[in-house]
Amino acid sequence: FLISHVKMSFSEQLVTRVFGYKSNNNERIINDALSQKHLKGHGLQIMTEAMMGHLQNLMLHDFGSAAKQKTWTEDGLFNYCYNIVFRAGYLALYGNTTSKTEGNEEKAKAKDRIESEALFHEFRKYDQLFPNLAYGVLPPGGRKEAFRLMRYFWDALSITKMRSKDNISGWIWNMYNIRREEGRPESMIDRYMFVLLWASQGNTGPSSFWLLLYLMKDPVAMEALRKEVDMVLKGSGQEVCPDGPPVNLTYEMLMKTPVLDSAVEETLRLVAAPILTRSVLQDMTLKMADGREFFIRKGDRMSVFPYVAIHVDPEIHPDPYTFKYDRFLTPEGTKKTDFYKRGKRVKYYTMPWGSGVSMCPGRFFATNELKQFIFLMLVYFDFELINPDEKIPQIDYRRWGFGTMHPDREVKFRYKFRY
Ligand code: HEM
Repeated sequence: FLISHVKMSFSEQLVTRVFGYKSNNNERIINDALSQKHLKGHGLQIMTEAMMGHLQNLMLHDFGSAAKQKTWTEDGLFNYCYNIVFRAGYLALYGNTTSKTEGNEEKAKAKDRIESEALFHEFRKYDQLFPNLAYGVLPPGGRKEAFRLMRYFWDALSITKMRSKDNISGWIWNMYNIRREEGRPESMIDRYMFVLLWASQGNTGPSSFWLLLYLMKDPVAMEALRKEVDMVLKGSGQEVCPDGPPVNLTYEMLMKTPVLDSAVEETLRLVAAPILTRSVLQDMTLKMADGREFFIRKGDRMSVFPYVAIHVDPEIHPDPYTFKYDRFLTPEGTKKTDFYKRGKRVKYYTMPWGSGVSMCPGRFFATNELKQFIFLMLVYFDFELINPDEKIPQIDYRRWGFGTMHPDREVKFRYKFRY
């Protein structure tokens, strides 16, 4: 299946309605070549390092302060995770405040903390309106607020504001330039920057919430992950020390964590539930693995929902609603890739990133972001649920189809530095 570009495609219609961005005829909303260049290989490494610096700034800036050392801080787990991962990801992609204007690096970092907090606050408001906006069923008051928020983001992410930033990622910078070379007006490119913010920052934070929650509900998994991260840290010759430099989790270290990889994959199996919609370009017959055939007509739209079809299929993943941190590990401790249905090996045993032409180009960066955040949480903090008997919340079904699910309620937890 291909997304139709003949008339307005499904994704173009959605992007216009929810972000105010109108694409040119024949324009792929996301440029594949640029994503290949910047979200893989060397470009990915640079972004991952930038992410590390911002996570350190947001999570560890008060590490070493005597008062913070001993006291527990209480927060909502969803808010805490989404906040940090969103802000660090945003700074890694859209650039940080330069110390040239602020006087020194510490002041620049403090400004990044304040500004990214404000941006997150507005993002969450938009996030809550998003499902109804996408379905076109927001009441007038909600629509007004959604447009106010859109205008806020078009301005906050505008090229005029961005010019004053350092370390804008190659992905964002090139996406901007390519649209400019195509002759798109600046105002439309500002809107495009909001599309990219949404695509890149809406899913990773909520995914990290579920992973930490599953760990807090599963002491064996928590222990296995702590053991792995402590070993990787030790192997790198670093240690957590209030007077020393912050732990620098390098790209190489991130490649040595099969247990964490499995826990990330298991989390996404349970909570990433995108609906993948394609326009049918020509009459065709769709053949299913079980022999059934469906005739679909040119002009139809077809949606696939891998969550039900694959993720929670008990034949492929036994006991599918239980978090098993080692589900994607072989007995030898390497990545498990063989899953079966009716005796036949399944090619797609999870599809959190979609597939085909519009498969998530940010999947490698997203995985690294998640791993970096969890790694720092595990090596720096003790954290626990306020109510140890807390049940895992239901997912908020209003968001079915829009990537990673949100919980239907907040979960209280507390954290403090381990050292
Ligand atoms: C856990 C985090 C993430 C999840 C679960 C996720 C999932 C997805 C899914 C399901 C799609 C649609 C695929 C399709 O229609 O076939 C998608 C598209 C996309 N994602 Fe992600 N994503 C995540 C993080 C990211 C990050 C960090 C970035 C950027 C750095 C990113 C950039 C994009 C872009 C640009 C698209 C649109 C691709 C296109 O239409 O060609 N995503 N993502």
